[in-house]
Amino acid sequence: MKGLILSGGKGTRLRPLTYTSAKQLIPIANKPILHYGIEFMKDAGIKDIGIIVGDTRAEIMEQVGDGSMWGVNIEFIHQPEPLGLAHAVLTAEKYIGDDTFTMYLGDNLLRDGIAGIVKEYHERNPDCMILLTPVKNPSQFGVAELKEDGSVKKLVEKPAEPKSNLALVGVYLFNSLIFEAARKIKPSLRGELEITDAIQQLLDDGRDVHSAIVEGWWKDTGKLDDMLEANRLVLDTLEKNIEGNVDSASKVEGRVIIGPNSRIINSSIRGPVIIGRNVVIENAFIGPYTSIQDKCEISNCELEHSIILDESKIRDVPGRLSDCLIGRQVVVEKASIKPQATRLMLGDSSWVSLG
Ligand code: TTP
Repeated sequence: MKGLILSGGKGTRLRPLTYTSAKQLIPIANKPILHYGIEFMKDAGIKDIGIIVGDTRAEIMEQVGDGSMWGVNIEFIHQPEPLGLAHAVLTAEKYIGDDTFTMYLGDNLLRDGIAGIVKEYHERNPDCMILLTPVKNPSQFGVAELKEDGSVKKLVEKPAEPKSNLALVGVYLFNSLIFEAARKIKPSLRGELEITDAIQQLLDDGRDVHSAIVEGWWKDTGKLDDMLEANRLVLDTLEKNIEGNVDSASKVEGRVIIGPNSRIINSSIRGPVIIGRNVVIENAFIGPYTSIQDKCEISNCELEHSIILDESKIRDVPGRLSDCLIGRQVVVEKASIKPQATRLMLGDSSWVSLG
């Protein structure tokens, strides 16, 4: 079995970060989301992994390399335009050949990984296996309608009137029949070749489509709130580990990870929190569910439930910052000269919510 991780796409819901960077490289608990997918594949015994890439391919290829970091073989497959998940599958046809494969959406996270699912696929050997999870808002997902015996009856992408609350999770197992099915379908109203339509085509062709319910949590991190929630869920699983320096005036409570060469000065850190390398936190409060990447400086402010990427500086900000996703090399500070008006320099599609 091969692996196929989808890391192209437009990432419109995470602009402006996705103007300059791949959303699959945004860190969750200081590790790029894409790395979790590669590790899940490896844990499931999948050694040959194709990664679909689009406009952000240079950054992804540089960051991931040839897979030797994980002991797997990675090949990159360029999808010239993000024309849908089924289009991405067709783009990978040559790479997959006659193998079976697990397709994994590169911005998704599952608590329990995919080893159990891959095992179940090999035991039953269906033409396709989909994963489902109950959700509160099914009309925002691909939804499966099941027959009384639990087998799949119908799949609909973002239905206005969902027939069940079972959403498709971003992991699919296929044999090569999916290529024939994907070639038969037409683009949807949003102009994409939908994977739900390709799997529906398999059903219409009388193929064996098996479904399994995901037990642990699953998160699609395509939007800010989901990204923060994924960060929260992963931080909840980490163990305390302090390598950096905490001075005697500081207080560190709960599960906190502080990387090498980081300094905590006269500050309070309340876990779960992860702080990377070479970070300086001074006269600050860092509250639960915060991830701070390398070389950041946080001083004279309060911050919680947020993700801060490399080399950003937050200083002298009044009030408490919460629910933030801050990119690389960003500066947020209180004006030091008059007039002390709020001054902003924001990229296209930025979003500011003043407290
Ligand atoms: P989506 O999140 O559905 O799409 P998107 O990345 O374009 O984001 P948005 O809706 O905010 O514009 O994609 C799920 C995953 O699949 C994600 O990792 C990107 C990847 N993908 C491709 O590789 N090729 C594609 O053609 C599409 C649509 C997505």
